[in-house]
Amino acid sequence: MPIRVAVLVSGTGSLLQALLDAHGDGRLEAEVVVVGADNPSAQGLERAAAAGVPTFVHPFSKGGDRAAWDAELTRLVAEHDVELVVLAGFMKLVGPVFLARFGGRTINTHPALLPSFPGMHGPRDALEHGVKITGTTVFEVDAGVDTGRILAQEAVRVLPDDTVDSLHERIKVAERALLVHTVNELARQGDS
Ligand code: GAR
Repeated sequence: MPIRVAVLVSGTGSLLQALLDAHGDGRLEAEVVVVGADNPSAQGLERAAAAGVPTFVHPFSKGGDRAAWDAELTRLVAEHDVELVVLAGFMKLVGPVFLARFGGRTINTHPALLPSFPGMHGPRDALEHGVKITGTTVFEVDAGVDTGRILAQEAVRVLPDDTVDSLHERIKVAERALLVHTVNELARQGDS
């Protein structure tokens, strides 16, 4: 039986698409059963709808009640009885209520080799630092910013004429494959 997965997105959703495509091709031992976004215009919502996956939108407004937002996010995800939550370009931190419910089974991807270059601008920070190799990390989400246990990493070479966008796009290619691989590994562990 494939494991039931929730995916949370904020933007383009190409990582989500990689999971949906892998499922469509029979390469994923998991099924995306719900996609949530904090941003109503996230393209990931359209990708989910095109694949027939239910969606929800749960925005957080500046100055809003973070604890209430976190509790409602937890409820919206829990409704779908999922075994794994994937943050796929989700640009919000989940809070203590969410982690109490889904800690240890929530993963995130980051476009750098953690613990280097955490935060919102991994590719930019790596490029500005002048590293020659960066990459992508899949990790278990904890209460910190990109601090959780590392599950998988893949290196990506920085090319001499890279821009932030060209580097990030190349990282994302590696990131999609690594995410599919890691979800499969976790699904197999869950089975044993
Ligand atoms: C990915 O590179 C992901 O690692 C990054 O956002 C991109 C989402 O791409 N996430 C973070 O930087 C989180 N700190 P996508 O919307 O095309 O899937």
